[in-house]
Amino acid sequence: MEFDLIVKSRRSARNFTGEHVDNKDIEKILYSASLAPSAKNRQPWKFYVLSDEQKQYIMNMLFEWDKQNRKERTSVKGTAEQIEVADKMIMIYSDTKKEPYKKPDYISLGCAIENMSLEAVNLGLGSCILCDTLYIDKEIDDYLGVQDLEQICGFIIGKPIYNYPKKARKDLKELLIN
Ligand SMILES: Cc1cc2nc3c(=O)[nH]c(=O)nc-3n(C[C@H](O)[C@H](O)[C@H](O)COP(=O)(O)O)c2cc1C
Repeated sequence: MEFDLIVKSRRSARNFTGEHVDNKDIEKILYSASLAPSAKNRQPWKFYVLSDEQKQYIMNMLFEWDKQNRKERTSVKGTAEQIEVADKMIMIYSDTKKEPYKKPDYISLGCAIENMSLEAVNLGLGSCILCDTLYIDKEIDDYLGVQDLEQICGFIIGKPIYNYPKKARKDLKELLIN
């Protein structure tokens, strides 16, 4: 697909057909992440590709958290519903612990995650970045046995159905400071 079209058609996928995503596509998406720029080439990204069972377990943990914390009015329930219909989910981590590297390494992770999002579009797939997992990051990491890494987000992938309106974007004029 042409680059312009990939960038313009990327959206956060919130609904999916239920079609199976090939493991080869997951590998391509992770390979694209590995090509991203990173501060001092530290490549701080780490990935945990969840099994169906693990994805389901984390989804249930989020539904449960939402039930216990309704008053907080978060988007956690909607996020859990997205996980339910997505075929695959990856947990994304940073292996950077020391200051002052953390900030540049968050930027590096953002670059890698955007590469993943764009590669998904290139493959005819859709994805969504999920930071709502951070409400229960410790619980997720304990469940997965992940230690000594900082959880950044979840990332779901599937064959998308875009049956909702596009998000509005700020005008370029609004973005310029000078
Ligand atoms: C850092 C980050 C965290 C996000 N976390 C969530 C999330 O937890 N749940 C969710 O449904 N969407 C999440 N999103 C998706 C945003 O809601 C979405 O990117 C935004 O509304 C713009 O829509 P678009 O991606 O379709 O252009 C996240 C996006 C980013 C960049």
